[in-house]
Amino acid sequence: MSFRLQPTPAARPNRCQLFGPGSNPKLFPKMAASAADVINLDLEDSVAPSDKDAARANVIEAIGAQDWGNKTLSVRINALDTPYWYRDVVDLLEQASERLDQIMIPKVGCAEDLYAVDALVTAVETAKGRSKKIGFEVIIESAAGIAHVEAIAAASPRLTAMSLGAADFAASMGMQTTGIGGTQEDYYMLQDGQRHWSDPWHWAQAAIVAACRTHGVLPVDGPFGDFSDDEGFRAQARRSAVLGMVGKWAIHPKQIALANEVFTPSEAKVAEAREILAAMEKAKAEGAGATVYKGRLVDIASIKQAEVVVRQADLIASNS
Ligand code: COA
Ligand code: MG
Repeated sequence: MSFRLQPTPAARPNRCQLFGPGSNPKLFPKMAASAADVINLDLEDSVAPSDKDAARANVIEAIGAQDWGNKTLSVRINALDTPYWYRDVVDLLEQASERLDQIMIPKVGCAEDLYAVDALVTAVETAKGRSKKIGFEVIIESAAGIAHVEAIAAASPRLTAMSLGAADFAASMGMQTTGIGGTQEDYYMLQDGQRHWSDPWHWAQAAIVAACRTHGVLPVDGPFGDFSDDEGFRAQARRSAVLGMVGKWAIHPKQIALANEVFTPSEAKVAEAREILAAMEKAKAEGAGATVYKGRLVDIASIKQAEVVVRQADLIASNS
C-alpha cells in the first residue's frame, strides 16, 4: 500500500438503486416497500419539462410523508446546463425533511460541477440550520465525465457513490448504438470466422472503479434498458461485480431481485472466502506467508481478496 491509504467507502448496502419518476407519485409507496437498498426519486430525464415543478413538489412531500424504512433516500436533480437544477437544490434543502440522505447530480463533467452544487447546498443547509449533511452521488455519462473521472471522484467530501449512465454516455461519446448497456451486436472480435462479443462498457467501468476506490466512493453500474431480458441484466451485473462495482440500478421492479442476487455474495463464495482466511491463519501460526488451498496458491493478497467478500456479506447481513 502507498503511504497514502485507500479510504473506506460508506458502509452501506448499495446493491440496487430503484428509480421512479417524481411525476408519478403512485409509484412511491411501491418503491418504499421494495427490496432495493437505495431509492432514487427522479426530477431529471424521466420527467417532462412541463412536469418539473409538480414533480419537485411531489418528491418534497413524499420524502417526509412516506415511510422509507432503512433505505438510502436520494433525489436525482436536473443537470447543471438546465434552468431547473438550482430550484431543485434550494427547494429540496429548504423544504424537504431531514429524511433525505443524498442528491444525485447527473451528467457531471468536471470537479467544478460538484464545487458549484456543494457551495449552494452548504449555503442553504447553513441558512436553514439543517443538522444532517446531505451526501452526493454522481453519474458519469459523458465524454468529459469519463475524461475527468478521477478529479470528480476527489471533488467533494459529500460524495458517496458514482454510477455509469450508459445511454447518455453512449450518446456523448458518439457510439453507434441505441441500447442502454449490455452486449452490442457490432462490437465483436473475429476468430476463424466466429464472432466473439466483447464489452464496450468495460473500460469506462474500470476507470470509474479505479477513481472510486482511490477516493473512497462506491462504484455503481447504471441502467439496463431492456427489462424483459433477465439474463442480459444478470450478465451485465455479473461483469460489473467482478470489476469491483457494488450494485446496479433498477428501472423496473423486476430488476431489483436480479441486482440483489448478483451483488449479494453467494453462500458458497462466502464459505470459500472464510476457508481461505482460516487457511492463512493456520499458515501464519506456522510462520508461513503462503500456503496451498484446494491445489492453488493463497498468500497475504488472498487474505485481502477474501476479506472483500466477507465484509460485503457481513454488511448486507447487518442491514437486513
Ligand atoms: N418502482 C416501483 N414500482 C414500479 C416501477 C418503479 N420504478 N415501475 C413500475 N412499477 C410497478 C407498476 O406500478 C406495476 O404495479 P401494479 O402491478 O401494482 O400495477 C408493476 O410495477 C408492473 O409495472 P409494468 O406495468 O410492467 O410497468 P409500467 O408500464 O407501469 O412502467 C416504466 C414501466 C419503465 C415506465 C416504469 O417502470 C418506470 O417509470 N421506471 C422508472 C423510469 C425512471 O425512473 N427512469 C430514470 C432512470 S433511467
Ligand atoms: Mg442520463
